[in-house]
Amino acid sequence: MKKLTLLGGLTPAQFFRDYWHKKPLLIRQAIPGFTPLLSRQELFALAQQHDVESRLLTHFDGQYKLENGPIAAVPDIRRKNWTLLVQSVNLHHAAADALLRQFRFIPDARLDDLMISYASDGGGVGPHFDSYDVFLLQAHGQRRWRIGAQNDLAIIDGLPLKILRDFQPEQEFVLEPGDMLYLPPHYAHDGVALGECMTYSIGFRAPAYQELGEAFLQFMADSIDLPGRYADPDLKPTAHPAEISRAMLARVSEELIKVQFTEDDMALFLGGYLSEPKACVTFTPPARPLSAEKFIQAAVKRGIMLSRKTQMLYRGKHIFINGESFSAARTDKATLDLLADNRALDGKDVATASIDVQEALHLWYQDGWLSLA
Ligand code: SIN
Ligand code: CO
Repeated sequence: MKKLTLLGGLTPAQFFRDYWHKKPLLIRQAIPGFTPLLSRQELFALAQQHDVESRLLTHFDGQYKLENGPIAAVPDIRRKNWTLLVQSVNLHHAAADALLRQFRFIPDARLDDLMISYASDGGGVGPHFDSYDVFLLQAHGQRRWRIGAQNDLAIIDGLPLKILRDFQPEQEFVLEPGDMLYLPPHYAHDGVALGECMTYSIGFRAPAYQELGEAFLQFMADSIDLPGRYADPDLKPTAHPAEISRAMLARVSEELIKVQFTEDDMALFLGGYLSEPKACVTFTPPARPLSAEKFIQAAVKRGIMLSRKTQMLYRGKHIFINGESFSAARTDKATLDLLADNRALDGKDVATASIDVQEALHLWYQDGWLSLA
């Protein structure tokens, strides 16, 4: 794979080998001449929307206060020590989506979102650590980052957010627009705005095994098949009527142990789970949808593209889109894998797709999951 300016001239393979999950990397001018994709007014407007996740954190008079969005009004921008955080801007803004997709050397199943923070002079979220890897791209103004490989991860009790009790910074950098800092999970950091600034966080997704396990068992509850019912034709009289007999336990265990999970079950679960849209996502169907025939005619001319809100993944014969899964025939699989990897199909790929795939494309178009290019 080729060297990326985004990674300071490293190839993705070198980055994974030496930095990913291992140590921080400061990349000066990762995106040379970078300018913000949204003005601060556009960001404040997004934070007012009900379908956008946002938080306002103020640190006035030495007191942290956290307000969850929608944020009707932000403090005066001349007032020091506040910050607005807007999650998943990529779902709402084409250029933000395009920026996040520059990180697709990391699989879609691991990429989470692009968060944008605005901070007034002195603003920030305080010294903390995250459970996920993060790329912090400076978009506007300057931010001073202090970072450290902190062993003591104790946090201060009683605050509305997690702040390290005893932050021990080891390095300090001032980031300018276009500079980017990669931090592995649990690496302590504190970013303070030097004058007003905006920082873009490219965040990752790493579900906790407990969460996966609970969701997997729920998923399997719908598909297990255990015929028959408990019976005890050999029952004996008991002197301890409250006791569950060993014989009963043995017979039930013998049946329940028949619940077996295959790798295919796990693949089906995982794909559905990872492609499930976030709670805040709503799709916008076309106002006047074309008939199947007209849609395919237009798609053959113009091609199609996935909505930026669509999550499409695949594993083996299984295709997953926005929480739904199905298995594709061998020839259809090639077309659908291409759609998932490129997030678009050329007209000629639509033209040669099977009737089944064309029908699926039309359904997804009607749901607002994809559109004509
Ligand atoms: C910020 O942009 O202020 C917060 C980013 C982070 O520390 O994870
Ligand atoms: Co952080």
